[in-house]
Amino acid sequence: MAEKCSWVRPAPVRRTLSLTNSGATFNSNPLDWRIRITFAARIKWILPSAVFHAALVAGCIVVVTIAPFAAQQNGARSEDDHFAVSVWDGTFSTEQATRGKATYLDECSRCHAEGLGGTESGPALVGRDFVRSWSGKSAGDLFLRIRDSMPLDSPGTLEVEQVAEVVAFILKTNDFPAGQKPLSVDLAALKRIKIEAEPMGPPH
Ligand code: HEC
Repeated sequence: MAEKCSWVRPAPVRRTLSLTNSGATFNSNPLDWRIRITFAARIKWILPSAVFHAALVAGCIVVVTIAPFAAQQNGARSEDDHFAVSVWDGTFSTEQATRGKATYLDECSRCHAEGLGGTESGPALVGRDFVRSWSGKSAGDLFLRIRDSMPLDSPGTLEVEQVAEVVAFILKTNDFPAGQKPLSVDLAALKRIKIEAEPMGPPH
């Protein structure tokens, strides 16, 4: 980068001949001619050279300014890459979600309502706003949220299997498809499942 940005010294110019075509008028004093020719030659060289170098410097500034943003974008992309699957791929089993429903009715519905629509004591866990607010996060994030803070009045009382079951039930109620295998209780695996409002379609 430093090399590319460094000043390139202009080559000495002796373009006296071409100047006679440039429309400059000279008087008959040869000394005056030379002064004019040298001056004209300088202007002729320096002007495009200055424009060129200004453009070079501007280019360097643009690269220096934009490069970190580009790198950040790449970072965001590789961040995305740690998601192996999406909630649209069938990440829980129907039986698991059914077990989760039983736990939900016992432990959660008093605040979040039987149909997950929410009450005065707890927000909705179903619907567009709920899914949007979790979009881009992982099933692991939802799992942790419940494991560590719910039920609000007695957090930490559920077994991890129960937490996974409740997550499965919440996903099912939000119309995400069931699959063959149950949702794992392994946090690393859960972190690789991306919650997203819309299916992404074929890989791009
Ligand atoms: C005593 C009432 C109460 C109970 C019981 C309860 N919650 Fe909550 N829950 C809340 C409240 C209030 C909030 C929002 C404020 C907060 O997070 O502290 C919340 C937030 C949540 C959130 C985050 C919602 C969002 O949009 O980000 C989830 C998920 C959740 N609860 C799941 C559950 C599950 C699953 C259970 C049962 C295991 C449960 N809650 C039991 C009151 C409760």
